[in-house]
Amino acid sequence: MCGIVAYIGERQAFPILIKGLQRLEYRGYDSAGVALFNPAEGETEIKVYKRQGKVKELLDFSTGKSTQANIGIGHTRWATHGAPNHINAHPHISGNKQLAIIHNGIIENYDSLRMALEKEGHEFESETDTEVLIHLIEEIQKKEAVSIEEAVRMSLSRVIGAYAIVIIDKTAPDRIIAARKGSPMVLGLGESGEFFIASDASPIVEYTKNVVYLNDEEILIARDNGEFVIKNIGDEIQTPFIQYLEMEIDTIEKGGFDHYMLKEIYQQPKTIADAMRGRINAKQGIITLGGINEFENRFLNADRIIIAACGTSWIAGLIGEHLFEDLARIPTEVEYASEFRYRNPIIKNNDIVLAISQSGETADTIAALELARDRDALLYGICNVVGSSIARMTDAGSYIHAGPEIGVASTKAFTGQLVLLTLMALQLARKKGTISSSYFFQLLNELENIPAKVESLLQNDAKIKYVAQEIKDANNALYLGRGYNFPVALEGALKLKEISYIHAEGYPAAEMKHGPIALIDENMPVIVVASNDSTREKVISNIQEVKARKGKVIAIIKEGDQAIEKLVDYAIEIPDTEEPLSPLLSVIPLQLLAYHIAILRDCNVDQPRNLAKSVTVE
Ligand code: F6R
Repeated sequence: MCGIVAYIGERQAFPILIKGLQRLEYRGYDSAGVALFNPAEGETEIKVYKRQGKVKELLDFSTGKSTQANIGIGHTRWATHGAPNHINAHPHISGNKQLAIIHNGIIENYDSLRMALEKEGHEFESETDTEVLIHLIEEIQKKEAVSIEEAVRMSLSRVIGAYAIVIIDKTAPDRIIAARKGSPMVLGLGESGEFFIASDASPIVEYTKNVVYLNDEEILIARDNGEFVIKNIGDEIQTPFIQYLEMEIDTIEKGGFDHYMLKEIYQQPKTIADAMRGRINAKQGIITLGGINEFENRFLNADRIIIAACGTSWIAGLIGEHLFEDLARIPTEVEYASEFRYRNPIIKNNDIVLAISQSGETADTIAALELARDRDALLYGICNVVGSSIARMTDAGSYIHAGPEIGVASTKAFTGQLVLLTLMALQLARKKGTISSSYFFQLLNELENIPAKVESLLQNDAKIKYVAQEIKDANNALYLGRGYNFPVALEGALKLKEISYIHAEGYPAAEMKHGPIALIDENMPVIVVASNDSTREKVISNIQEVKARKGKVIAIIKEGDQAIEKLVDYAIEIPDTEEPLSPLLSVIPLQLLAYHIAILRDCNVDQPRNLAKSVTVE
């Protein structure tokens, strides 16, 4: 949510900022802007260029203008305070035009700070909390006669909320100041003493692999002489932990696909295999998840697993609930992190709180974990982004290793999360003896077959595109499923609504009779996940109920299920598999269906309106 990039060194900052912003655009695309300072050429003012809309608008706007500078900061915005227009776009400058800031996060007490500053004579141009923060820093710098880094430190102690900020000061053009609390920030250590700062590693990876992730309440001072210092908010110097970035540049490019989302859907045979790699010995029947081994007793004696997550990750959690209860017989509850954090839930020290998060930065999920930590539960994380906040704050966890997910709609991260949940449930089931040895081996062997089955069902894309053409003009859609595939129906509906803007709802198929059936007529596409054996007959009855009301049925069926194929308007086949693993296959046609419908409706699938990839504000 909002992207930040900054540079100080010997190169020209502008092209680095623009390229970085393009890489970060998936984090927010309401507006983009840069601030540059070039005292070497005798310039006396910080240049700020910003535009509403995409980075392309900013680039067009800057063409022909002076962009020379060895120091600069850039921002791509997902609006929180104030409309997404030029004025509210970042960077913001202080009243005396000496300082420029970019900010990711929310300053919750900005209103009272603004009123106090207005009394001191400050005037504001925008409606943003960010402009208030830079005026506060200006005020403290003036009143206390301190350096910019000290003014930043003093200001942050008066701020309530979350932030990742980067600041330049034209009276101290040899340095960049950055700080974080609750919003990610990474420092890249380039060649010959140059520094890159960004909200994630994607703008940095092509320049350097040596990075430092800032911790909460840390302030960074990076200088053009190649020196940098990290202090905490109490002014104590911190020892930086320099890490090697395990990321390749091709993982953040489209690789010949029209969109990141399509690339990521097609990557799933590989990402599903990567999520299992090194963790399964199918011959010996061993699953090794380091995090579970480390806390084996806590897991085996857990009273409950509480899964806290948001969006698609929450839906993965619902499938996790089936897996943990069905296979490992551990009572499991799934919570929207945003509700859990505010409702005084019962959490005991024998509970395990499992956070699922692609980004590892979702504010509500982090807050849910903080609450659970205070009540002594064991915290476990399933994340994709290595080194993310959730990965660092949990007692243990497992990465899904899907590589960067850049399409805003989550696809490969979802199936990666399902693989991890399956491995966890199987490892625990094996240890607890809650499933037979033969069933355990059956599931384990079949799990290894899933990547090839995904590969084969991706061949059905032409059929899915055809179905997309047939239903693309619908205003509403209903998704139905049962058992393990009810959450898949929810996920299909979420994918469709977020990228095609068609209103869609997911329901347990049998619940349809209790209300949604009233909506069904010849204009209503009903997408039924009908690939499970255990509920097949029941789902057939549900399909008949829809057909009796002239609804248009698209069914996801098991290969060769002619009975259902004859009953419905369009059938999309997927390979047969074990029921607990079926969501790994059944969700993929629904991802493709949403993708094709969105393309046919001329929607921007990678950057759907109003959304941002990682939701770092509540
Ligand atoms: C939907 C989607 C979102 C995220 C949600 C949680 O396609 O991507 O619903 O799943 O914002 O994000 P993470 O998993 O990063 O915590």
